[in-house]
Amino acid sequence: MTEVSLKTYGISEDTLLLLETIRTCRSKVALELGIGSGVVTLELSKGSSWVVGCDLDIAALRETQQCCDSKENVELVCCDAASAFRERAFDLIVFNPPYLPGNETSDLATDGGMDGIEVTLKWIQSARQTLRRGGNMIFISSSLANRKELLMKIRNLGIEVIPLNKKKLFFEDLIAYKTIIPSTLSSDRPQTTQES
Ligand SMILES: C[S@@+](CC[C@H](N)C(=O)[O-])C[C@H]1O[C@@H](n2cnc3c(N)ncnc32)[C@H](O)[C@@H]1O
Repeated sequence: MTEVSLKTYGISEDTLLLLETIRTCRSKVALELGIGSGVVTLELSKGSSWVVGCDLDIAALRETQQCCDSKENVELVCCDAASAFRERAFDLIVFNPPYLPGNETSDLATDGGMDGIEVTLKWIQSARQTLRRGGNMIFISSSLANRKELLMKIRNLGIEVIPLNKKKLFFEDLIAYKTIIPSTLSSDRPQTTQES
């Protein structure tokens, strides 16, 4: 748990892409990993019966708590990725992970590991444990990270990913991906209404 937040991650282009992508999603129980300002969690709360937002940064969570207080279907939890949750608790898990590459570990909100994909991979594996049958993950990936390697490693986990939404900026392009986990698709239909 991080005790001091130097700066809660502000609403950025990647935040906006995730917001736009999840706007039509409907779920029973949704989870956002790494909530930062909390805007994505608040958006999820409009289409979900129950939403949990988590972040490792306790100070960021305290700031965000104020805007979530009025929402009766939102709970905030301080934890590392999805480590606090039981198996098959959520039918939708979304995240905009830290993805800047490098060996820096000074900014929890942006440092994504050497290739910019290590945190994303860790979150995918963590989230998978708590995803219900037929559930989906939706996450952001940037061209600043080694996306080719990321997609290969995700597929090696037996998870297929399809692009849902894109945003091209002058310095990077962002893609919102949705996961498809074949072993959970046979009998249950996904809970989200997001078109692929
Ligand atoms: C890129 S920011 C995204 C914030 C927000 N979801 C958004 O889209 O604006 C990543 C967030 O993940 C949090 N974070 C970093 N490592 C984490 C971990 N291991 N577990 C949970 N949250 C973490 C950071 O504190 C930060 O708030």
